[in-house]
Formats: sequence, C-alpha cells, structure tokens
Amino acid sequence: MFKLQLPTDPFWVKNVVESNIEELLTDHAYCEQKAATNAITLIIQNPQIPELVSEMAELVKEEMDHFKRVHDIIIKRGYSFGLERKDNYVNELIKFLKRGGGEAKRTESMVDRLLLAAMIEARSCERFKTLSEHVDDKELSEFYYELMISEANHYTLFIGLARKYGTGIDVEKRWEEWLAYEGEVIKRYGKAETIHG
Ligand SMILES: [Fe+2]
Ligand SMILES: [Fe+2]
Repeated sequence: MFKLQLPTDPFWVKNVVESNIEELLTDHAYCEQKAATNAITLIIQNPQIPELVSEMAELVKEEMDHFKRVHDIIIKRGYSFGLERKDNYVNELIKFLKRGGGEAKRTESMVDRLLLAAMIEARSCERFKTLSEHVDDKELSEFYYELMISEANHYTLFIGLARKYGTGIDVEKRWEEWLAYEGEVIKRYGKAETIHG
C-alpha cells in the first residue's frame, strides 16, 4: 500500500487496540486535530501558492470534521476525552525533515514538509485499513473504512502538490528516501494502543 515498506501486523488490532478502544480514540482525535493544525501551518508558510492555500483551507475543515466525529463517538460511548498523547512516531519522522534556511532552500523545505504530511497520511490510511478489516466492532470498522478512503485522498493531494511545486527538486528520489526512513522507524512500533503506536 503506497509502497510502504512494512505492513501493520493485525496483532496490533487484536492484542493491543481492542483492549483499550478508549485510548485509541483519544489519540486518534488528536491525530485529526494535528492534521488540521499542520494544514494551517502550511498555509502560513506558503501564502504565495494560491492552490496550496485553497486546498489546505478545505483540508482544515475536513480534518476538523474527522476530529468532531471521533470526539462524538468518545462522548456517545461514555468514554472520557483525555489530554493530548505524544506521537513518538511522528516526532521521529520530523527528525528526517530538511530544514531550509534562505531562499535557495525554501522550495526544498516546502517539498519535505509536503512529503512528511504525505507520509503520515499514507501510514494513517494503512492503519485505518488494518483497523477496519480486523476490529471486532461494527461501528468502528465502518468508520475506519470511510476514513481510510479520505486519508488516501489526502496522501494523493500532498504528493501531487510536492510534484507540482517542487521545481528543481527530484521529488521521486526524495520520496523513496522518506519511504526507506519510515520503513526503519515503523519497525519499532505496533505495540501501543495509539494510531501510530
Ligand atoms: Fe483525517
Ligand atoms: Fe488526513
């Protein structure tokens, strides 16, 4: 799926997630909030690209809609919505970002931020697919199937923007580097009841 190097073992759903759905949902709600926050950050960093600003403005609405739907499920089930959970997986990915100083590095930095977002969408989509196929909970199975399609579209959006606006950058080569790096990172996960855990 999306050339991800390592598929998620259904063990994660059966032996980790299903024992603590409340924790999964709290973490998931914050993943959606962070996706919206990231889209806002991309607007602030790239005001010179009208298409990007417009797409990100739409994305903020969609991700906050996802957030609200997860929050609604939490409340409906009588769970409590806790504090934000640390996302060690995303923090490890962030370390791989090329940080641009000055105008010359600006496009490179923008492309990397778009690829980071594409990477998180791709893995989230893969996790949602695994959840929808294996979770023994009809409501959540259907919910994650729907979100899987939505996040797949976001992956396509971010990769597309990187290719279109990454003038002078070998975006395909850099994407291969991201895939290889993520493949190493994700080996250490699959043990916690969080979306990327
Ligand atoms: Fe989302
Ligand atoms: Fe998304």
